[in-house]
Parts: sequence; C-alpha cells; structure tokens
Amino acid sequence: MKLKAKDRLIVALDYKTLDEVKDIVNEIGDAVSTYKVGLELFLNTRGEAVDYLHSIDKKVFLDLKFHDIPNTTTMASMFANKQEVFMFNVHAGGGPTMMRSVADMLKENSSDSIAIAVTVLTSFTEEEAAAHFKSDLNISGLANHWAIETKESGLHGVVCSPLEAKKIKELCGENFYTICPGVRPLWAASNDQKRIMTPKIAVENGADFLVVGRPITKSENPVHAAKLILEEIEAGLKIINS
Ligand code: C5P
Repeated sequence: MKLKAKDRLIVALDYKTLDEVKDIVNEIGDAVSTYKVGLELFLNTRGEAVDYLHSIDKKVFLDLKFHDIPNTTTMASMFANKQEVFMFNVHAGGGPTMMRSVADMLKENSSDSIAIAVTVLTSFTEEEAAAHFKSDLNISGLANHWAIETKESGLHGVVCSPLEAKKIKELCGENFYTICPGVRPLWAASNDQKRIMTPKIAVENGADFLVVGRPITKSENPVHAAKLILEEIEAGLKIINS
C-alpha cells in the first residue's frame, strides 16, 4: 500500500462550531489534508462542516458510525457517497448482511469512498463486554472476528487500536485498511487515551491512517505539531519499506 505520510494523517475536529473549525483549519493550512468530522461537529453544524472542508479542498473522514437495518444504513451510506467523502464508517455490530449491502451499493455506484467499520468500542472494559456480548471471546477476539466479517462483507477496513493493527493485517490482509486513534507522540499529553502508541511505532505496527486530535488542535503551534507527527510517520515508513 503506497500511502505517503501526509495521506496517512487524519486530524480529528472535535468542535461544535464552524468558526472554531475555520480557525484551526486555516491555522494548520497545507500541513494537513484530511480531517475527521464526528457526530458532535456534524450535528451542531448541520453538516456544514463537511461542505466547508470540501470547499477548501480538504478530505473528510465522516465518522458518524451508521448502525441500523441494512436498508437504512445503506441509504445513509449513499448520502456519504454522494457527498464524496474520502472515508466513512458503519458499526460492524450491524452484521454482515448490513455491511454487504453497503459494500454492494458502493460498487454499483463506482464509489471512491473508503468504507470502514467500528468493531468493539474502546470504551468497553472486559467486564462490560463479557456481560453485554455474552461471548466466549474477549474484546480483542471479538474485534478480530468482526474485522474478518468486515473484510468478507466487502468493506475496506476497520478502526482499531495501533496495538491491534498488526494482528488485523495478518488476519485480513495487507490491503485491508487499519485506521488508528490512540496515537500520541512522546512530547504530547496522553489526555484520556489509555492504550497509546507513538506515530512512528504505530506505522511500524501496521497502522495505515492515524487519527490525531488534541496533540495538534490543542497545541500552541498546530502546524509545528502536525509537522513533527508527519516526520515520525515518515520515520516509521522508512522502517517498514526498508
Ligand atoms: O484528541 P485525540 O487524539 O484523543 O482524538 C482522537 C479522536 O479519535 C477523537 O475524535 C476520538 O473520539 C476518536 N476515537 C478514539 N478512540 C476510538 C475511536 C475514536 O479516540 N476507539
């Protein structure tokens, strides 16, 4: 997979207003080309954040985690496809029929959007997962199982911890995308992230796309922070390509 360092960095815009988005995106400028728009920003700006980012030629990862019956999820995915978002996601918990329906729609429409699945939300503890899913599998077993289902359904990748990316690549193949939050350079605060990895080590471990928010958006110098992270991604790429 020949992705350049800049193509791999996705900056999370965890804001409520378009003004905040405009400020930070203008400040970052050319250093970053892809931004993540989640539920908070999408709903508060009534979708305008997506239009704004596209109007200034930025790519959008639409992180709305669709989870419904196959027809409804496929119609929601059709919206994402019509918006020409770079990437969007569904919940693997919706099951293989749902994911296959989305994958078929994308194929029929010759879509370029990357459609990925969320497996087990990282907010689950092992105890909560055991009580909720009543499965013999632990969280990473469930995440791996759902990653395989995602791949077999025809979607393109999963959101996972950088700690799990290597295993998922082994199970689902090199071309199956791993999109990893929980990335922290050594110089940044971990904030509320618990299971973290540096950008360089995440790339070495099979992370294709790195989702990074606060280390860049809350930095005193967001451009410098983004550049340092890109350098680390570059260093990781040198190692995997050598
Ligand atoms: O600021 P920070 O780098 O922690 O932001 C990471 C982004 O990735 C946030 O938008 C967060 O909601 C999202 N995310 C995450 N962990 C997951 C899934 C999504 O941190 N498992």
